[in-house]
Amino acid sequence: MRKPIIAGNWKMHKSIADGVAFINEIKGQVADTDVETLVCAPYTLLASLVEVAKGTNIKIGAQNMHFEDKGAFTGEVSADMLKEIGVTHVIIGHSERRQFFAETDETVNKKTHKALAKGLTPIVCCGETLEQREADETKTVCKTQIVKAFENISAEDAPKVVIAYEPIWAIGTGKTASSQDANDVIAYIREVLVGLYSDAVSEEVRIQYGGSVKPSNVEEIMNEADIDGALVGGASLEASDFVQLVNF
Ligand code: PGA
Repeated sequence: MRKPIIAGNWKMHKSIADGVAFINEIKGQVADTDVETLVCAPYTLLASLVEVAKGTNIKIGAQNMHFEDKGAFTGEVSADMLKEIGVTHVIIGHSERRQFFAETDETVNKKTHKALAKGLTPIVCCGETLEQREADETKTVCKTQIVKAFENISAEDAPKVVIAYEPIWAIGTGKTASSQDANDVIAYIREVLVGLYSDAVSEEVRIQYGGSVKPSNVEEIMNEADIDGALVGGASLEASDFVQLVNF
């Protein structure tokens, strides 16, 4: 059985005080869940959030990292730096990073390798633009992104990766892929993993859906057989919404 994983992606939102208050507010309300509960916050909040989440079942993730251990990379943060403060997960290749910060399939692959080598759980994002969807290229685009992201990742490490399928046209737009459409693409990503590895590996990898997930649609999405969780932007910013998402 794959353990469901609900992750908030706060993007560039919240002060330290706001973030700490959020964790304090939700911790009692998500304590009984079997769902892996994760908040991915801006770098400046991470150490404080790890501190306030100690002793709870809430894990703290970053939204990006560099693939090198150290060096002259102004503005970047390494996997060791995240590990040092107790971060457990890292989002890799979010479409906003691909679109605005020159993230490529190659850097996604390098970062995935590094995260795994350092014991961080990578959440690797893939997804198509509206144009690509309309041109019926959704599956090809996702396949290319996934094949590249997993290049030279061993069959032993592959199940440690979480995939987030996030159709770009559904992110922050209020438009959601129908749960069935999302499940179709995610089932296809599983087939790609069968081709790369085996049935067993493909059955183990957790695949989230992301794109305008909210309390009103989370249950339907989570009821789909191949969808193992959600990566949530907007609706993860309000504590009461996030609690509902985790307790879908
Ligand atoms: P959204 O963002 O939930 O606001 O659509 C999802 C994401 O970008 O991960």
